Amino acid sequence: MSIDERHLPLYHAFLEQGLESWLARLPEQLARGLDRQRFGDLPAWERAVRRLPALEVQDVHLTQDTVSVEVAMDDASRRQCDNLLKILAPWRKGPYRIGDITIDTEWRSDWKWQRIAPHLSNLTGRRVLDVGGGNGYHGWRMAGAGAGFVLVIDPSPRFYWQFHAMRHFIGDAGANVHFLPVGIEEVPPNLAAFDTVFSMGVLYHRRSPIDHLRELYDTLRPGGELVLETLVVEGDEHQVLVPGERYAQMPNVWFLPSSKALMHWLSRVGFDSPRVVDEADTTLDEQRATEWMTFQSLADFLDPEDPSRTIEGYPAPRRAVVIAQKP
Ligand SMILES: C[S@@+](CC[C@H](N)C(=O)[O-])C[C@H]1O[C@@H](n2cnc3c(N)ncnc32)[C@H](O)[C@@H]1O
Repeated sequence: MSIDERHLPLYHAFLEQGLESWLARLPEQLARGLDRQRFGDLPAWERAVRRLPALEVQDVHLTQDTVSVEVAMDDASRRQCDNLLKILAPWRKGPYRIGDITIDTEWRSDWKWQRIAPHLSNLTGRRVLDVGGGNGYHGWRMAGAGAGFVLVIDPSPRFYWQFHAMRHFIGDAGANVHFLPVGIEEVPPNLAAFDTVFSMGVLYHRRSPIDHLRELYDTLRPGGELVLETLVVEGDEHQVLVPGERYAQMPNVWFLPSSKALMHWLSRVGFDSPRVVDEADTTLDEQRATEWMTFQSLADFLDPEDPSRTIEGYPAPRRAVVIAQKP
């Protein structure tokens, strides 16, 4: 398989990080993850990103709630950027700002980061994997917190191009953040390479949650840290909800454990000292429709008579963050 020059920075980063065992699989993984036959909108997204104008960047902020790029833009460039970025909509994870264009995303992903960041081992210089990292919003924040190398993996090609739209503006300030359009199942087994691994909003989409935890375990080096964020229900360590066809209108939700059950699962797969560092209901201010995500959102998925239930009658979304160590 020939090597696409656009991906050279990713290959170089893998070499530099000593990820040779994965490197050999990259050409095939990239080709499949960005296959135009599978994803009809891909050419339009790619074209949109390639047409973003080269602007003079004055500053980049990866430590602020809104991942922001200070650029001087005239009216024509502003309109051009706005139109091209809208081709990549819906924008779910953010917020972002480029010049005076604010991408007000469906999720206030910064709120999740605020709940998690105080509990993390210092990320400075660490090698980080963000599994199911969406369009990379948290990946940029990890770099802002000092991570030495951040790899975001997510099988969504739309998110791949949203990431590259931001990368276009962020430039060298985010040169250590990379995106690979694959799912966790494509990560080579027993990698034992990362200092910190995040899995946020992914576990409940997995049909086999214990296997997901084991896959995450295998990506970590001994002594590495797992940060797991997922939907939970109230209850003791035996409490797990397996919803019917849909949960809050999502068709692919499998297991919602209590946070105590989740800690039990983590111990069973071999993690040390799992601890719940946060548990919170998802509010209508954190997940909502915006100009950049105009479809239905959380308000449409809750029972209008009783917002503590989903429209299917299950407990409304509540999320926990658990941190654990690989011995
Ligand atoms: C609810 S979103 C969470 C995004 C982000 N981590 C956050 O917390 O805001 C779940 C993400 O998991 C991704 N995903 C789906 N299947 C996956 C898989 N097999 N491996 C990794 N990520 C997956 C989806 O594309 C989606 O971006």
